Amino acid sequence: MATRLVIDGGRPLEGQVEVSAAKNAALPALCAALLTAEPLTLDNVPSLADVTTTRALLERLGGEFSDEPGGATTVRVARLASHEAPYELVSTMRASVLVLGPLLARGGVARVALPGGCAIGLRPIDQHLKGFQKLGADISIQNGYVEARASRLKGTLITNDLVTVTGTENLMMAAALAEGTTVLVNAAREPEVSDLARLLVAMGARIEGAGTARIEIQGVPEIGGARHRIIPDRIETGTLLVAGAITGGDVTVTGAAPRHLTTTLAKLEECGAAISVDGDRIRCVARQRPRAADIITSPFPGFPTDMQAQFMALLGVADGTAKITETIFENRFMHAAELNRMGARIETDGSTAMVRGVPAYQGAPVMATDLRASASLVLAGLAAHGTTEVSRVYHLDRGYERLEDKLRSLGARIQRAG
Ligand code: EPU
Repeated sequence: MATRLVIDGGRPLEGQVEVSAAKNAALPALCAALLTAEPLTLDNVPSLADVTTTRALLERLGGEFSDEPGGATTVRVARLASHEAPYELVSTMRASVLVLGPLLARGGVARVALPGGCAIGLRPIDQHLKGFQKLGADISIQNGYVEARASRLKGTLITNDLVTVTGTENLMMAAALAEGTTVLVNAAREPEVSDLARLLVAMGARIEGAGTARIEIQGVPEIGGARHRIIPDRIETGTLLVAGAITGGDVTVTGAAPRHLTTTLAKLEECGAAISVDGDRIRCVARQRPRAADIITSPFPGFPTDMQAQFMALLGVADGTAKITETIFENRFMHAAELNRMGARIETDGSTAMVRGVPAYQGAPVMATDLRASASLVLAGLAAHGTTEVSRVYHLDRGYERLEDKLRSLGARIQRAG
């Protein structure tokens, strides 16, 4: 697979493009298959590197996959073949930690490599582990692995110290098979959590309150298979709309879930774009230079940290100065230095970045450091005068399905190169 994207920028993007299913909903949905011996069919699994990694992990644990011609994927874990998520898989994808809850609940034992730090921050899993302990599991950490054991988990009250998305998902899956009722307080309200709850309910779990900060799960002895359609990717949707806004274009994203993007759309309007919503279609028209607008990331329904890098690219060429405050991850500004190589004037200080808008970017060779950072560099490249080469685009392939094809269909000049 070619590792660079070459972009000839400066062209307004125009047209309509369809969004894929959400990466961060597909990964927990696949892991939920570990809870049952019956088949789970997902209608629209996106084709992403993180999905390939999750499939490899599930296959090791006993999962068998079959892909239907229409795009649906069925996974069946008739028998757990192993209870271990090895380091080589967890280190490439932190979401591998999502097998902990289902393995523990179904098999009574799970051994998962500690994820360690990653490019955007330390990202511990203490809240996951504290929750499993409250559900009655014995947790020990040995040789870089978390080992969790329990005969049958017991429902309880779990109050998370902070809002964690995969932590909420992990605990919800474990509690689905526990004895008695579990209440999760300070739960994540992200749409991906609600989508997983919807799937688990279709599988026979009893869950109420998903989408709020208090989720109640009444454990059942067994859950079965189901068929499920994953929600649209709100971050891909936002990224494509910013592609319209940053190039002074007119982009419509179809198949989207506008209610999952309220803060993103409001911020695009604050930046001067005209947004219109019609059912599952969102149109972004931006013929003027963007206006500066401050951003503070926060858990859903606040402004998503996963859109921060893309908006930094947009604000980099806005009229005025914007302050970006990142409250979720401690080290998520690595794209700032790369954007500066393209002519931006961004200064970071801890969790804040001051973005002084410049009239335009200049094409340059830049390097992607993580998934959303790579998206921000592609966006800047689309708007830049001249040619931009984004290297290490494997980061992009983890979470965007055929992004360059979609951008090309909107008129972008973008190619893969070796
Ligand atoms: N945290 C802890 N302890 C824990 C769990 C989290 O201190 O036990 C901290 C984290 O270090 C972080 C904050 O809590 O500072 C929030 O982390 P969270 O657990 O919510 O993040 P996550 O579940 O690991 C998911 C997404 C991320 C997204 C974040 C925040 C998946 C697979 N990943 O990660 O997506 O940024 O929620 O919304 O759902 C991406 O798609 O690019 C991406 C990074």
